[in-house]
Amino acid sequence: MRAKFMDALYHTLCSQLPSHKQIVTLLEAEGEEVKELFDAADRVRASGVGNEVHLRGIIEFSNYCIKNCCYCGLRKSNKQLTRYRLTKHEILETAEKASSMGLKTIVLQSGEDPYYTGEVLAEMVIKLKSRLDIAITLSVGDRTRGEYQLFREAGTDRYLIKHETSNPSLFSRLRPGTNLQDRVERLTWLNELGYQVGSGCMVGLPGQGPDTLAGDILLMHRLGVEMAGIGPFIPHPHTPLSSYPGGGLEETMKVLAVTRLVLPQAHLPATTAVGSIHSDGRKLALCCGANVIMPNVTPMKYRPHYQIYPNKACLTDDTGDILDHLSLLITSLGRKVATDHGHSPNYKSLN
Ligand code: 5AD
Ligand code: SF4
Repeated sequence: MRAKFMDALYHTLCSQLPSHKQIVTLLEAEGEEVKELFDAADRVRASGVGNEVHLRGIIEFSNYCIKNCCYCGLRKSNKQLTRYRLTKHEILETAEKASSMGLKTIVLQSGEDPYYTGEVLAEMVIKLKSRLDIAITLSVGDRTRGEYQLFREAGTDRYLIKHETSNPSLFSRLRPGTNLQDRVERLTWLNELGYQVGSGCMVGLPGQGPDTLAGDILLMHRLGVEMAGIGPFIPHPHTPLSSYPGGGLEETMKVLAVTRLVLPQAHLPATTAVGSIHSDGRKLALCCGANVIMPNVTPMKYRPHYQIYPNKACLTDDTGDILDHLSLLITSLGRKVATDHGHSPNYKSLN
């Protein structure tokens, strides 16, 4: 086992794509191998993307969703959730505040909410881009190719849409009415349209094992994603998966670390989900491959309602306090808070 682990690690560190089997071996690291894996990921992070940590302010502007994903608290059948939508004015005001605090990226995220048409969102992006010196990421789920094109032409820089799981039957069971092939096609469109594309997966889903997780990592490599969000599955009480165990911290960190080895230049967030299952989750993630944090800048009164999973981190802190806390955390690790937009190396902005 030890020899197989070392073999897989050295193979990957020599910039060679590991096989599916080698990835499984890395994910099954035990004892001192785990530390070796995390240290290797930390070194690859330093040489691939440097010591800066990028802060991306996230505005969760609507928790309405027409989908019914079995894992997510925003699913349309969850009638116990108080739903909200931010007005255009509130979105603008929130983004202005975040930008004035030094954030250089705003992520506009929502459930799948057709109330915000393609035109409305595109107009919002144009307005934000004309007023503020920020990069814009959209994360609003499944839309038509035409809408993605419209958002891109409006100046949207990045799009996040996780593949969630690379196991096609698990995907369709967990996301009723949808399939993995369509999701991958959307990721391909976004790439063709010139976005910096973000995918990602959950760790610890029911029925998922190292085989599927190795497939997740290889899929992200094949798609050439620029960003990959990897977080533990956290069971939500008002969903069909409420009684399943969630993903573990070490398991999630291993997936993150191997993703870093396979995607040396990608932007990998220390996700809010990993910060929600352990008080040091984000710090630990920053030390095994992550180089991004996405502080929540949603107006305080709405934050508790964006409950994709329970016990979400940073629900009560004021944005200024969160940013102070994150700066301290980042500098305490000998890292620096990035002050630029944090685009990927080959990215061409449209405005
Ligand atoms: N646990 C962890 N992550 C979740 N997400 C949704 N529900 C959960 C959950 N229960 C993540 C998915 C999705 C994003 C909106 O939140 O990965 O992409
Ligand atoms: Fe809606 Fe996304 Fe939650 Fe699915 S994961 S229910 S699409 S917000």
